[in-house]
Amino acid sequence: MKTEVDLSESYKLLHPRPVVLVCAKGKDGKVNVMSCSWITPVSDDPPLIAISLWKEGYTHKLIDETGEFTVNIPSSKLLEQVWLAGIKSGSKTDKIRLLKFNLTPSKMVEAPGIEECLGALECKVKNRMEVEEQILYIAEVKRALADKTYFKKDVWTDEAELLLHCAGKTFSIPKLIKHKSQIF
Ligand SMILES: Cc1cc2nc3c(=O)[nH]c(=O)nc-3n(C[C@H](O)[C@H](O)[C@H](O)COP(=O)(O)O)c2cc1C
Repeated sequence: MKTEVDLSESYKLLHPRPVVLVCAKGKDGKVNVMSCSWITPVSDDPPLIAISLWKEGYTHKLIDETGEFTVNIPSSKLLEQVWLAGIKSGSKTDKIRLLKFNLTPSKMVEAPGIEECLGALECKVKNRMEVEEQILYIAEVKRALADKTYFKKDVWTDEAELLLHCAGKTFSIPKLIKHKSQIF
């Protein structure tokens, strides 16, 4: 039997969701990283994704300066870094230094990637929309990279131990199951 969920908490019914590290570089060269789980593909041709960023954060200011960012896909081994990137703000803390991330140059955007992550998307903003306390960015993926040890036949393997965010400090790791149907 289902019971009522507070509407302000209803988004949690759509979790767990993959957590990514969004990395942006300001015009002055400052690089910042933040955790983001409100991310989704919206089109495959052209490849478009959407991210929703809180207006009170800092990362969107850098994205607005350049119209670019990278999306970096961490494994659960980076849980501590993901947590800190999600509770500290680049307006006060140099998170790249704090988290000891190694940055790798991107080819299609100025924002770098994070070497410790298993995958990366280099993105250019196509549309920007203010939605209540959030900014919704639709961005085109200009380059995509994956560690093929963990991304096989179009699928992240169990060994990738991708990090999903449930709520608060609770995370989970996905486990693959295979549908046995003969019908495609
Ligand atoms: C697991 C996790 C997921 C998060 N997802 C989002 C998100 O999708 N959008 C958002 O605006 N903030 C999200 N946050 C919060 C931001 O990461 C947090 O406000 C961060 O301090 C912003 O950093 P910045 O001020 O350097 O941009 C998340 C935090 C955590 C821990």
